[in-house]
Amino acid sequence: MIGWAAMHERADPVIDALGRRGNLPAETSTFLGRDEDLAEVGRLLRDEPLVTLTGVAGVGKTRLALKAAGELPGGAWLVELSGERNGALLAHTIGSAIGLPEQAARPQGDVLAEHLADRRMLLILDTCEHLLRPCRDLVGQILRAAPGVRVLVTSRQPLGLPGERVHTVRPLPVTAEDCDAVRLFRDRALAVRPGFECSDDAVLRLCRRLDGVPLALELAAGRLRALTARELLDHMDDRFSLLSGRGRTGRHRTLRTAVGWSHELCTPEERLLWARLSVFAGTFDADAAADVCADERLRGVPDLVSRLADKSVLIRHGQRFRMLGMMRDYGREWLREIGEERLVAGRHRHHSLALRRVMRHPRRRACGDPGRRPESGRPHPGPGH
Ligand SMILES: Nc1ncnc2c1ncn2[C@@H]1O[C@H](COP(=O)(O)OP(=O)(O)OP(=O)(O)O)[C@@H](O)[C@H]1O
Ligand SMILES: [Mg+2]
Repeated sequence: MIGWAAMHERADPVIDALGRRGNLPAETSTFLGRDEDLAEVGRLLRDEPLVTLTGVAGVGKTRLALKAAGELPGGAWLVELSGERNGALLAHTIGSAIGLPEQAARPQGDVLAEHLADRRMLLILDTCEHLLRPCRDLVGQILRAAPGVRVLVTSRQPLGLPGERVHTVRPLPVTAEDCDAVRLFRDRALAVRPGFECSDDAVLRLCRRLDGVPLALELAAGRLRALTARELLDHMDDRFSLLSGRGRTGRHRTLRTAVGWSHELCTPEERLLWARLSVFAGTFDADAAADVCADERLRGVPDLVSRLADKSVLIRHGQRFRMLGMMRDYGREWLREIGEERLVAGRHRHHSLALRRVMRHPRRRACGDPGRRPESGRPHPGPGH
């Protein structure tokens, strides 16, 4: 069977009125790490019509999508959707990105699907989490009509289409002085402070506090204009006041707006659970979450936990879950604001004590006590996992 990449190379690429065979932007900063992700996404794109890169705010979904697309033969078309708030205009936005003229007489989705029907191309829909349903409908229509089209989506939540292959982008590993997260931080630091050096382990510890999330690392490195790495580290409890970037626009202006975008896309119940879950420092399972967070204001916690993981607010580790530091701090602020900090911290203390008692007296398990380990007793799996 001939692979899609080979067909793509042979076929006429989509050329727009300006003679372009794609519109990928040139890279303006060094790309670091991600060898395994690139290999996996490249493999998926050769075999699958729809690939979605998902993951937490600022983790590098868009950057990875552009890099992976740039390594494929043939052109690729990028459609940036973060500024598009009206799902009804989705087909128009895609059409205008690929140079398709408007036809007022017919639905633009039909016009687009017809236009793409015999084309071979890669379409990148960047930032779809706020337009899940319209994206799902239109991508389904395009893929049914156009067997030569591949769609690469970036979204904090998968579209949920049958056949969608989801690749979760994890934070960069923070393991040692020469790990990818530290290399990224140092690279961006050198851009604002030529000759930047740090003799102690402050940079490594800072990267750890920032969980290896590239956006947070870049924003922190930008602050080296005014602060030392040690000062940054000392002020990490206040990361949202500290981490904002000059010259950035949209939701990447600050760490708070980047995380806040996820918060806006949550339902009131999901936001309340996010706030309450911020009392967990390590991993937890759905039962522990229910123990600490459920009450008459918040029912159906196990299902809500799963929804927060779908939205990349929580990271899944098998049956357990974890919140990155920036998501936890955001939830903690919200918890304080709604006046529940003491209440939920108290419930969490009770929960931990009960579990410790069970561990000290394992025979009680047989008498009906819960048989779980305390969440704090679990080794932290590290940001790259
Ligand atoms: N592997 C990498 N090497 C270098 N820079 C990176 C890498 N990954 C991400 N970045 C940088 O980190 C920042 C955030 O990355 P990106 O925009 O791809 O995140 P995202 O996951 O798409 O965020 P969002 O959820 O808000 O869409 C960008 O400035 C990007 O260039
Ligand atoms: Mg993105």
